[in-house]
Amino acid sequence: MSNDPSAPARGDYLRLSGVVKTYRDATVLAGIDLTIAPRERVVICGPSGSGKSTLIRCISGLEGYDHGEIVVLGKPLAPHPQPDARLSGRVGMVFQSFNLFPHKTILENCTLAPRQVLGLSREAAQERALTHLRRLHIGEHAAKKPAQLSGGQQQRAAIARALCMQPEILLFDEPTSALDPEMADEVLDAMVDLADLGITIVCVTHELAFARRIADRVIFLDQGRIVEAGPPEVLFTRPQTPRLQRFLSRVPQRQAPAPSLEVQ
Ligand SMILES: Nc1ncnc2c1ncn2[C@@H]1O[C@H](COP(=O)(O)OP(=O)(O)OP(=O)(O)O)[C@@H](O)[C@H]1O
Ligand SMILES: [Mg+2]
Repeated sequence: MSNDPSAPARGDYLRLSGVVKTYRDATVLAGIDLTIAPRERVVICGPSGSGKSTLIRCISGLEGYDHGEIVVLGKPLAPHPQPDARLSGRVGMVFQSFNLFPHKTILENCTLAPRQVLGLSREAAQERALTHLRRLHIGEHAAKKPAQLSGGQQQRAAIARALCMQPEILLFDEPTSALDPEMADEVLDAMVDLADLGITIVCVTHELAFARRIADRVIFLDQGRIVEAGPPEVLFTRPQTPRLQRFLSRVPQRQAPAPSLEVQ
């Protein structure tokens, strides 16, 4: 995506080394070492409370960390929270609960940050927004408020909003877990299409069929540690640890690809 000649060296594109995060006396991330390459698509899975959200919130700068080092796009991220880190637009985040501004239209939601942060004109911001909204098949809903859209449409609007900042890295935290299966598939299909845009994707999800379709690598987190990592076809068919075996046996797996929606 970047034409920047000072683009970071491959190893320092996105790197976590020995990252530890504690809340009072609880260790939530217990030494994370992870290097992600440009355009790589990484799925993070693991049991509830294993630190998945914390991990991507640390990468986004929303959350601080106690020890170790995080380098994002060649720049070390200071250990205290960096709410402005995302404002440059180079790292975007899509949340489970969409987080759209309820009183603004979908188009306004998509044009606000590009105008305020990137300095785009109204026309340029609208043109960009409509391109992404159409890409996500919700162009006709641009003038509506979020509450007038289905959950799946709202989440696709949230993805369009993130794309309008032309991020290099897009972080997703369980983007479909608030949606019923049909709407989840709409969103997952849209995310598969994003792969063509060459954006680096780090996605927390339990949608293992989706992980098989999109992920170059799956990271399995448990108790704040990376327990296993590898391509989905290896990790899901030949899990090496009892913890991952147990996790896989408990996660409901939907058939891939859509349209088959039966829960196994
Ligand atoms: N702000 C906070 N203050 C204290 N503890 C927290 C805070 N945020 C998260 N935790 C704790 O950190 C641990 C990891 O939380 P996190 O939200 O990262 O887990 P998760 O893997 O995303 O879980 P889930 O699948 O339920 O979303 C949990 O034990 C949680 O209770
Ligand atoms: Mg979480």
